[in-house]
Amino acid sequence: MVKRKIIRKYAVFGNPIKHSLSPLIHKYFAKEFNIDLSYEPILGSIENFQAEAKEFLINGGLGFNITLPFKQEAFNMALTHSKVAEITKSVNTISLKDGVIHGDNTDGSGFIKDLKNNKRYQLQNKKILLVGAGGAAMGVIPNILYESPKILSIHNRTFSKAEKLAKALTSFGNIKAISETDIIKEKYDLIINATSIGISNLEFKLTNKIVHKNSVCYDMSYGKASNSFEKWATQNNLIFHNGLGMLLEQAADAFLIWESKRPSVTEELKKILEDNL
Ligand code: ATR
Repeated sequence: MVKRKIIRKYAVFGNPIKHSLSPLIHKYFAKEFNIDLSYEPILGSIENFQAEAKEFLINGGLGFNITLPFKQEAFNMALTHSKVAEITKSVNTISLKDGVIHGDNTDGSGFIKDLKNNKRYQLQNKKILLVGAGGAAMGVIPNILYESPKILSIHNRTFSKAEKLAKALTSFGNIKAISETDIIKEKYDLIINATSIGISNLEFKLTNKIVHKNSVCYDMSYGKASNSFEKWATQNNLIFHNGLGMLLEQAADAFLIWESKRPSVTEELKKILEDNL
């Protein structure tokens, strides 16, 4: 008798999607558990994402990740949501729960796991500055506030957007918007870049009056996109981390949702990714 192999089918939707590292990561994870898994990058169309994503599930897909610009649409297509997805109105992982489309967001949990477990950095009681007030910033705020920092200040080129974000999430912890003039009144323990400055290859400009000698810098981007914030951190003699660890940890959390097993994030995998940047 010929035994048919059952392949567990996953994907990532985005636009653009060509340079996504997620297929490489999930195929590596699957090897640890000897799971036959396919994980394809799918270029979603701006007008038709939901229909294409549903088609993938109808054709046997068990779940998928979502990257820019479809995270809000993925939220809209899910019938049930995790708590963080509900708060952020943004979904990066779709799974099927008893046949029902369920939306999670593992960006924030991945960020926290990278900081706490890999970088050994605790957020409790820390003064944190989050630069940026777009989708990436919103995605990590609930998880940061769950860690009870002393203060989470949001600074953004467009101040009104920072104010809006802080106001929307004020019930989850100590969060406020901070303006260009008020920013120098505090020295921050952790500075997170959630802007797209680096993607546009622009210089990261921020006064160094906001740092002390042990301040830590974390860029949610990686590769070339994190170069500008890294340059700023280096100029100020500060420890710097890029977002590669976050990328891996959010992927491991997505894998856990789908397969009920959390894969190891190994140094070997990190090295493979660095070579593929
Ligand atoms: P994402 O989903 O990646 O967060 P986004 O929602 O477009 O993308 O948000 C991009 C963020 O980078 C915003 O906070 C944006 O600031 P504005 O709200 O003022 O637009 C910030 N950003 C982009 N280019 C910037 C620049 N040149 N200088 C400062 N901030 C910039």
